[in-house]
Amino acid sequence: MTTETPPTREAVAFADPLTCAPNAVGDAVAPGLGPADRTAGALLSVRATGMSFRFVRSLRTCEFDPAEGPADREERRDRTELPTDRRGRQRGYARSPSLRSVRQRRLGRNGPRVSAIGLGCMGMSQSYGVPDTAGALATFERAFELGVTFLDTADIYGPFTNEELVGRAIRGRRDDVVLATKCGFVPGDGTGPNRIDGSPEHIRAACEASLRRLGVRTIDLYYLHRVDPRTPIEESVRAMAGLVDDGKVRYLGLSEVSPATLRRAGSVHPITAVQSEYSLWTRDPETGILPACRELGVGFVPFSPLGRGFFSGTVRSLAGLPADDFRRGIPRFQEGNLERNLALLDRLESIAREQGVSPAQLALAWVLHRGEDLVPIPGTKRRRYLEENVAATELSLTAEQLSRIEEAVRREAVAGERYSPAGQALIDR
Ligand SMILES: NC(=O)c1ccc[n+]([C@@H]2O[C@H](COP(=O)([O-])OP(=O)(O)OC[C@H]3O[C@@H](n4cnc5c(N)ncnc54)[C@H](OP(=O)(O)O)[C@@H]3O)[C@@H](O)[C@H]2O)c1
Repeated sequence: MTTETPPTREAVAFADPLTCAPNAVGDAVAPGLGPADRTAGALLSVRATGMSFRFVRSLRTCEFDPAEGPADREERRDRTELPTDRRGRQRGYARSPSLRSVRQRRLGRNGPRVSAIGLGCMGMSQSYGVPDTAGALATFERAFELGVTFLDTADIYGPFTNEELVGRAIRGRRDDVVLATKCGFVPGDGTGPNRIDGSPEHIRAACEASLRRLGVRTIDLYYLHRVDPRTPIEESVRAMAGLVDDGKVRYLGLSEVSPATLRRAGSVHPITAVQSEYSLWTRDPETGILPACRELGVGFVPFSPLGRGFFSGTVRSLAGLPADDFRRGIPRFQEGNLERNLALLDRLESIAREQGVSPAQLALAWVLHRGEDLVPIPGTKRRRYLEENVAATELSLTAEQLSRIEEAVRREAVAGERYSPAGQALIDR
């Protein structure tokens, strides 16, 4: 750990959030920054922690700093590039020079530029507690203000209502977002689990229905949610490629696929992104799909990067969760396993405390540090959590800090599978 010299106002103004040089932690910075900085949560750790990662600028404080030179402003503009329309112009709210937004990453070698974290929308309609439409819409608004432009939904979320909600949220600002949705699940009849259908007929019909619910003419990124074992992947992807030809979809993605399936799919049509579970407690992609994505220039989108909320420290027992909370069915949250996993969380929390950040931010920053080609999509229905997660994109972790985090949550120490046996059976290996 480094001991830091109290920074000057200038040091803060010119500090680079990625490299965090020069150091910018210390109460000394606070007098030079406005009240918005203090409340926004981006300077969450404006105190002398002696650590070498920190937030250097408020995400709510959007004005350019008058102390900046033109070069700094240019550099900032580069970093805050936002979605462009079909003619390459920046669109909407994001063009305002007075609005600061989250940095961007490219999805795959040839995919779109998106915000470095996306917004997972599933939990706004299901899985983690009672949906709150007004709260969710306010969360979208805040996401757009902060430049979180990459939205992740699926037809099966709700089912169907999540796409309707996203459609409502993006009305009037279609060109400001990169919209990802998924097909391939068919809701069960209430008595059994959801089915998988990757047949060309289903994919074509599902796409039409998603376009209608989302209220758009084109889906930016269309994923096959799970591989259908009864339909060769080439057939599913050929049908999806037909949607690209028809202008209904821009880019194709796959979810939870093996490297072999990715290669077969890519021989039919370029695959822009693979979405798989990836977090401190789900490291399997590192030895399978992630290297394959890198080799093939395919972007990687970690879902459930907060371990379905586990790494926020807000779920320490199943007792407080609603009867239909999805986590009740996940082995890692069940009695016996949960206690062992909580011991790992305790260690992560203690590092987070030392560093003046939340454990959720530390877990998310860890994912973001696994590579510039990763775009995690933490899910939340709350503005406060969204702001916290966005602030995590400004964290810079040293190699030593990263290894301390990995030591705290050692993969061999994680207890329980990430899905029930039925869910595990749907994963393509
Ligand atoms: N392809 C697939 O098969 C697949 C599977 C699962 C998910 N996904 C996608 O990935 C997205 C994210 O995954 P996920 O939602 O399952 O898991 P996640 O992002 O790991 O965790 C979501 C949970 O964490 C809570 N949370 C978020 N930020 C927090 C913070 N800063 N502090 C405290 N708690 C926080 C949320 O609470 P609140 O709900 O109270 O806001 C929610 O309960 C989904 O929305 C979905 O779009 C894809």
